[in-house]
This record gives sequence, C-alpha cells and structure tokens, in this order.
Amino acid sequence: MPAALPDLPDDPSHASQHDPQHDPLSRRMRALRRSDVRDLLRHAGLPDMISLAGGLPAAELFDVEGLRAATLAALDDTPAAALQYGMTEGQPALREAIAALLGERGIVAGADDLVITAGSQQGLDLVARVLLDDGDAVVVERPSYLAALQAFGLASPRWCTIGVDAHGGRVEDLDAACAGLRPKLVYVVPDFANPTGACMSLERRRALVRWAVRHQVTVLEDDPYGALRTGGAPIPSIAALAAEVPGASNWIAQASTLSKTVAPGLRVGWLRLPPWLRDAVVRLKQAADLHTSSLAQETARHYLASGRLPARLAIVRAEYARRRDALAEALQSGFGDRLALQVPEGGMFLWGRFTDGTDTRALLPHALERGTMFVPGDAFFVDAADAASLRLNFSAAPPDRLREGARRLRDAHAALHARAAAA
Ligand SMILES: Cc1ncc(COP(=O)(O)O)c(C=O)c1O
Repeated sequence: MPAALPDLPDDPSHASQHDPQHDPLSRRMRALRRSDVRDLLRHAGLPDMISLAGGLPAAELFDVEGLRAATLAALDDTPAAALQYGMTEGQPALREAIAALLGERGIVAGADDLVITAGSQQGLDLVARVLLDDGDAVVVERPSYLAALQAFGLASPRWCTIGVDAHGGRVEDLDAACAGLRPKLVYVVPDFANPTGACMSLERRRALVRWAVRHQVTVLEDDPYGALRTGGAPIPSIAALAAEVPGASNWIAQASTLSKTVAPGLRVGWLRLPPWLRDAVVRLKQAADLHTSSLAQETARHYLASGRLPARLAIVRAEYARRRDALAEALQSGFGDRLALQVPEGGMFLWGRFTDGTDTRALLPHALERGTMFVPGDAFFVDAADAASLRLNFSAAPPDRLREGARRLRDAHAALHARAAAA
C-alpha cells in the first residue's frame, strides 16, 4: 500500500473519531480506500497551483451559452419532465437521443437498452454491486482507473490483472491472469485509457468479445474518452464488435458519459446493458437513488437536441491536441530520456515512467512545494505497482501553464535528486 500523500490540515474526515476496537463502519466500508486523485484535488485550489493531477475538462471550453439555453428550454418547454420524479431507467426522450448518439458510433442501441446514471461512475458502481459477491474474481487492466478500483474494491474481490502495452490491455494474458478462476467481471477502458492513454487494438477487442462468450463472463467496457480522438482512425468499440459474434451481446456492458464531452457537473452518464443485467441494475438503482436528476436529464436532452455538440467537440479536440503537444514537448525537452512518455491520440492524459529510478510518490511533495502536482502511478495498481510512473493531465490548463508546470516538475525532480545525493 503506498504511503499517504501530503495532507491539508482542514479535512475533518481524515481524523479517526472511532475506537478501532468498535468501529461502527461496515467491513465493506472499512476496506474502501480514499481516492488519491480526489484528495489531491483539494490542493488544486491553492494560489498559483498548476494541477496536472485531476481528470478535469477545460472549464473555459464548456458551452455555457448552449447549456444556459438548454436549461431554460428544460424549464420553459418541459417543466413537468424537468422537475417531477421520473423513471428509474431515465427519461425516455434522453435515452432516445443517447441511442442515436451511439448509432453514429456504430453501436446498435434502442432506448430500452439504456439506463441513465449519475455519471458513468454510478454505472460502474451499480454493475459491480449487482454482479459481485465478496471475494469474487474481477479482471482489471494494470494500471486501471482508480475510482473503478474503489467501486469494485467494496466487494474485496480477488484481483486478476492483465498488463497494458502500446496496444491496450493484453487480452491474450486473460487465461493466465485468471489462473483457473472464473471471474464475474472483466473491466476495460479501450479508448484512451485512464491512466495510460492507451487504445486497445481491434484484434484484442475482437478476442475479448470471443473470450467473454466462451467463458460466459460479463465484460464492462468503459468509454468516457472515445469521442475525444484527435488523430488516427477510430477503432470500433467492444459494444459495436459484439454484434459480430452470436450470443456476445448478452455479455457486453458499456458505460459512457457526457462528462468529458459536455460537462461533468451535469452528472449524466449511461449504461448500455443486456436485458438480464439491465433488469438487475434498474432494481438496484431504485434502491440507490430512485433516478438520476430530472433537471439534469432534461437539460442534457435539450442540449443534444440543439445540435451544438459536434461543433463544440471539434473545438475541444483541437484545443486538447494543442495542450497535449505543449505538455509533451515541454516534458521531453526538460527530462530527455530520463522520462519515457506515452503520448496518446486523444483523451486527457499522458503516462510517464522515469527511467532514472525516481519514485514519483517521493517526488510529489517537492512538486507541491513548487506549485504543481500530478498523480503518482502507484495509485492505479492493485498489485505490483510501478513506483516510477506518473499520470499527467493535459486538458485542464492552457499551453503556457502546462509548460510552466513541466518546468516546476523538472525543478522538483532536481531537488529530490539533490537531496538524495546529499543524504
Ligand atoms: C475511465 C473513467 N471512467 C469513468 C469516469 C467517471 O466519469 P463520470 O462519472 O463523470 O461520468 C472517469 C472520470 O474521470 C474515467 O476516467
């Protein structure tokens, strides 16, 4: 377990109020570790901090005007739908609109295949909770999305991991990773994965679909970043490829979201599920929150209907490409071959690995002192963490701030090594 990150003094939830002999929290809750990323976000508001840590979209690129109009349209045109309780599955008109969006990406979906969730994070949690009993085996990529590991971790699962290379998760290692166990769930982020930015190859996606059918195991494809491709040819999603293999659609679940394309504050995401899983998820969502916010759903629906999203996405993609290049070039010129960088054709993250033995958790306090921050890579591993790796976000800050962040990181690196040499 990695060492704790430097902490701010003003967070009361860090102080243990309880006698450890009589912990009133459930066993599941006690096993839930804090999110390093969310904890780090508290530092992001410090004066002059350049955060390369969060997974935040560029706030200045939110389509405020379009969302204002959509909110007003929701209240003026469909006030009952916007303000009343709604169906647990989500507003039918929004599900129709999302189904059409998926159709444009080659995924056949009807409104009835979808459940609207409070962001895709809720989708991951709901799928995990309907599938996993304590101790069940779960396959994740190594490294993998931290908050998915938190959601699955509530079941204290047996973790089975497949490595990630330049062509995404190593699906060919699945059988060896499972070591005779039949997992309940395989979780992958095939497009611009968080944290590595890697894209899974077409061959591996097809192989994963065939594997799911052969072993009758649910694959959860998480796709928040597919629409943020800035170069290269799109690769069909696993949900689209499932149509090629008889029986596969029964085993493929997909989560996605408007968070990275429209705005995360809306908290509108969705699950595309086979009927047996959808039925279970809807029952659980009834118990969890009745339904996702009606006002947010109606706003999202009016926004999608306004037709503004494609033009906005073109702006966002072009700017993210500029930001990615600015950060990658600054890091490459600052660190040379001491930092091996993976530069993706989309998404929001660079993944780096120090080749000079730098421990990124030891580097972080030096970075914070100099006004920048990143996420140490070990946060994204459930086993065999790589202490020399780190995740750097390029979407949230403009190019000149990213260059300055890279410069501060280089200073932090120099300070860490100077201190080590003096010791
Ligand atoms: C891989 C992945 N999945 C899911 C999410 C959750 O997004 P949201 O709940 O905002 O839709 C994120 C957010 O960073 C992510 O990176």
